[in-house]
Amino acid sequence: MPTRNDRGKRQSIIDACLRMNALGINQGTSGNISLRHGDGMLITPTSTPYEAMKPEQIVYMHLDGNHDPAQRPSSEWRFHRDILKARPEVQAIVHAHPPYSTMLAIMGMEIPPVHYMVAVAGGDTIRCAPYATFGTQELSEHAVRALEGRLACLLEHHGMIAMGVSLAKAMWLAVEVETLARQYHGCLQIGTPPLLSKEEIEKVRLRMAGYGHAEE
Ligand code: 13P
Repeated sequence: MPTRNDRGKRQSIIDACLRMNALGINQGTSGNISLRHGDGMLITPTSTPYEAMKPEQIVYMHLDGNHDPAQRPSSEWRFHRDILKARPEVQAIVHAHPPYSTMLAIMGMEIPPVHYMVAVAGGDTIRCAPYATFGTQELSEHAVRALEGRLACLLEHHGMIAMGVSLAKAMWLAVEVETLARQYHGCLQIGTPPLLSKEEIEKVRLRMAGYGHAEE
């Protein structure tokens, strides 16, 4: 049940869900969002239309996977839980099926350094995690690996994960990754896009640390 402490957090998750659909980075109930809370996380319930979602339906889950058995957490709770365990700096995780990111993911493609903004995800590429069935521990392990040193990744034949030190930052990154995917997709229609070097992306990353795109 929501307490005075977590009601605001629960509502912020619902607001972010509604926003990701309004922005076109997700469709229907394909996505899910989690927010670190105490020793566990608050996570969206499975297959629940965002318009009808109530704060009390957001599930509190301990990082050992325990939760109120009367509640039904997102089928992707494993990767949310495992990412929060592996990455203590992360506070919020957004998973969605944005059209352009998912097109690249279907093709098993990562996003290479076509634009300097690739650096906002923490490195010179946005990796694509190998395919595994949704909701499985195998998918979670692939996701955690693809996110090593990064704040976003694609999931083959599936979608995208973006995370951050706040829900606002995770949402911002999700939109940015989808924009990069769209730009890369567009460039591929024209030819083979030239890439920025690893060194240049590292330079950008360090420069961003002192600018508005700081990762942490
Ligand atoms: P949930 O409705 O269970 O969160 O599942 C949606 C999804 O993205 C599965 O990958």
